[in-house]
Order: sequence, then C-alpha cells, then structure tokens
Amino acid sequence: SVATQLNEESPEKLLSPVLSAFWDEPDSWTLETYLRHDGYQGMRKALEMPPDDVIAYVKDSGLRGRGGAGFPTGMKWQFIPQGDGKPHYLVVNADESEPGTCKDIPLLFANPHSLIEGMVIACHAIRSHHAFIYLRGEVVPVLRRLHHAVAEAYRAGYLGKDIAGSGFDLDITVHAGAGAYICGEETALLDSLEGRRGQPRLRPPFPAVAGLYACPTVVNNVESIASVPAILNRGKEWFRSMGSDKSPGFTLYSLSGHVTSPGQYEAPLGITLRQLLDVSGGMRPGHRLKFWTPGGSSTPMFTDEHLDVPLDYEGVGAAGSMLGTKALQCFDETTCVVRAVTRWTEFYAHESCGKCTPCREGTYWLVQLLRDIEAGKGRMADLDKLADIADNINGKSFCALGDGAASPIFSSLKYFRDEYEEHVTGGGCPFDPALSTAWG
Ligand code: NAI
Ligand code: SF4
Repeated sequence: SVATQLNEESPEKLLSPVLSAFWDEPDSWTLETYLRHDGYQGMRKALEMPPDDVIAYVKDSGLRGRGGAGFPTGMKWQFIPQGDGKPHYLVVNADESEPGTCKDIPLLFANPHSLIEGMVIACHAIRSHHAFIYLRGEVVPVLRRLHHAVAEAYRAGYLGKDIAGSGFDLDITVHAGAGAYICGEETALLDSLEGRRGQPRLRPPFPAVAGLYACPTVVNNVESIASVPAILNRGKEWFRSMGSDKSPGFTLYSLSGHVTSPGQYEAPLGITLRQLLDVSGGMRPGHRLKFWTPGGSSTPMFTDEHLDVPLDYEGVGAAGSMLGTKALQCFDETTCVVRAVTRWTEFYAHESCGKCTPCREGTYWLVQLLRDIEAGKGRMADLDKLADIADNINGKSFCALGDGAASPIFSSLKYFRDEYEEHVTGGGCPFDPALSTAWG
C-alpha cells in the first residue's frame, strides 16, 4: 500500500500501517498470509482471559468507534447485560456508504481475517455465539472474498465449535444488503437484517439493550473490530503510544478528490491534512486546496485555513466540525462549491427513507433551491431560505441522516456565501465544470 511505502520513505515516520501493513503482498487476503503476520495471536491471548477482562482491556486501550461517532468501543461492549438468559449478538456494520468514505471496503478486500479475528475476540468478551457481517450489497467481489475468508477460518478451527481448543463456539453469518444508505444507520440495519424494510428505530432503547431480534446487540464498524486483534497482541500501551489521550491509536484516513495520490493512509489520530498532503504528494500540480471534508459530506466542510487542525475527535470538534469517517475529500479552486453541495444534497434527498417529515420534505426543497441557484434562477432570499430549511432539518429529524444533509448547507454558506451570491447576481455558475474534472 501507499501507506507502507511512505512510512519507509518518510523521515518523520508520520504513517503507522497496521491494518494496511501487508495489503501489497500477493494474496494478502488469505489465511496463510495473515498467519505470517501474527494472525490470530491476539485471539489466542483473548481466549485465555475472562470475558470481562477483555472488555476492560479494550476499554483501557481507549479505542473509539471508527464508524463516525467515535463512541468508546469497550464501553459499548460493557453495556451488554450479563446473566440475562438472552442470546447476545455482534453485528458488524460493513454498509459503508458515506460519500467519500472508502476504508472498510478496501480493508475487507485486502485483509478480511483481521475482522474475523476481531469478531472472535469481541464475541468472547460479550458472550455471544452468533455474529453477523452486514455488507453493502453492491460490492460483490468483497462479498465473495468475505465468504472465502470465513470458510478458511472455519476449516482452520478459528470459527465454529471449540475455537483453537478454548471451548468457545462462534458462528458468523455474512449478509449482503440491497444498497440503501439508510441501512448503515445501526437500527435500520437491524431491521433490514431481520428481513424488514430498513428504517431507523427509536433510540433508546439502544441496540445494547434491545437490538437484533430484541436481544442485547453490539453494532460495531468494520475498522473498530479489525483494530482489536493488534491491541490484544501488541498491548494497550503500544496503542496508547499513538494519538492523544482522548483519541489514542492509529486509523485509516481516506484521501480523495483533487490530490496527486488518492488512497488509504494509516496514521496516528491527530495527524493534520497538511502532513498527509505533504507525505502523499499534495494537491494536483498547479492547483490549491479550496475546501475539504474531514469525515465525509455529513461533516461540516473546512477550508485551507484548517490545514493544521489535528485530525482527532477533539481537534476537529474544536474547529467546528466532526471527525466522522475520516474521509478527506479535497477540492481545488476549480470546483464550484454550490455544485458540490447540490450533488451531496441530491444524494441525501434520494437516500432519505421518508419516515420523518423534516428530512423527507426538507431535503427535497433544498435540492429544488440549489438547482435553481446553480442554474441562475435563484434569488438572494433563497440563501436565507436554504439556511432556514436546513435549520428545520437539523436536530429535528429522526436520525443522523437529516443532520448530515443540513451540514454542508450551513458550512458552505458560512465560508462561501459570496459564491452563492455570485450565482444569483451573475445569472448562474461562473465555473467551468470541465476544469474540475480534467487533470493536468
Ligand atoms: P451515535 O452517537 O448516536 O451512536 C454511536 C454509537 O454509540 C451507537 O452504536 C449507539 O448505539 C451507541 N450509543 C450511544 N449512546 C448510547 C447509550 N446511551 N447507551 C448505549 N449505546 C449508546 O451515532 P450514530 O447515529 O449511530 O452514527 C452517526 C455517525 O455515523 C456520524 O458521526 C457519521 O459520521 C457516521 N456515518 C457513517 C457512515 C459510514 O458510511 N461509515 C454513513 C453515515 C454516517
Ligand atoms: Fe428517514 Fe431522514 Fe427521518 Fe432518518 S432523518 S428517519 S433517513 S426521513
């Protein structure tokens, strides 16, 4: 991977490839390759520990959920009631769909056994004997690879009965969704997994109390679970030696857009976009950064003023956005911000599940206004109307999709209101779309 190469070449050793360390090797996804890289050693250690000790260990490591919200992973496991007589479930959210986010899919493709090993450890900790992987349905090659990896793990005795002679049993079911963004919302995902149309449920109760089939369920992101084996194997102190006190460890950043070398960069939390651009070759030649997202389009956008914001939960939060999925989409000066926001809003309107009025109606009206402004048919009053509609979606919708749709509206008006006004006064878009899509 680019990350490995850069870590060897970079004197600052800014990058810390762990999950991506051997993605470049031939057959990186096979059990044989995984075992050559200490595969299933973390699991062996965990299976010798009492379940509560595993939970405490992961909690002490400070690992935070990598799906976007950053909720402490060990704490989530601890919420599962014990001795309740009900089955417990682990559901891995592999329905990665946030615009610009592309870390879990390559991780599953190149290194699926890190997830399977992490699932065995997590299930031992929460006393679960049946786990599910809910995969985004469009990625058929990844589905095949997951099935292959699960079958390999069963054959080697890392899944099924009496795993590695420990007496612990676990079955994994791989399930492909049908391609709805809302099914990445954890409760909609559970509805979909149960065979219903995926729509968010009221929380609380959180899945930890009443999740899959109304039983205590941990829903974790792929990267969160895949990070656990290395923590068990190399130690929580090693993990805490990277990042900051509140945001420890390494993580995958997805760099995309008008950059020289898009891809996955695994680095300690707290690295800055400036550092990542420095080690990856920067923006495309002859161009400069105009705006970017720290964690997909649901997170308020940043500009070139924010290049030195530490990319961890606290740093990005203090600068007025959210770390989210760490999908760093970079746009240069050829990009029309109104056009970019229109595309994102069209996505949210299309993916809105329709359950609640602010999101269902609001995203529709945002798209109408944005299309008018982009086409030169907008009025100055429409800018306030955009903000007003976004305000009526934000915090008033049933799930996070509504807030995510409002977010690029607020931040683009905050930083680029003059560009919206230029569209109104100039009778349309002043940008040439061919320039932002052409390279060179
Ligand atoms: P959230 O903050 O409501 O919940 C995060 C996790 O913590 C959930 O698993 C929830 O069950 C658990 N939790 C929170 N409070 C709890 C409590 N009191 N008791 C028990 N469990 C509790 O965030 P949400 O709505 O689940 O996710 C929003 C995030 O998802 C956003 O930050 C966004 O970045 C991200 N996202 C990621 C996408 C992707 O493709 N990876 C797509 C869209 C959004
Ligand atoms: Fe559905 Fe949107 Fe309401 Fe979420 S906010 S429940 S996606 S309509």
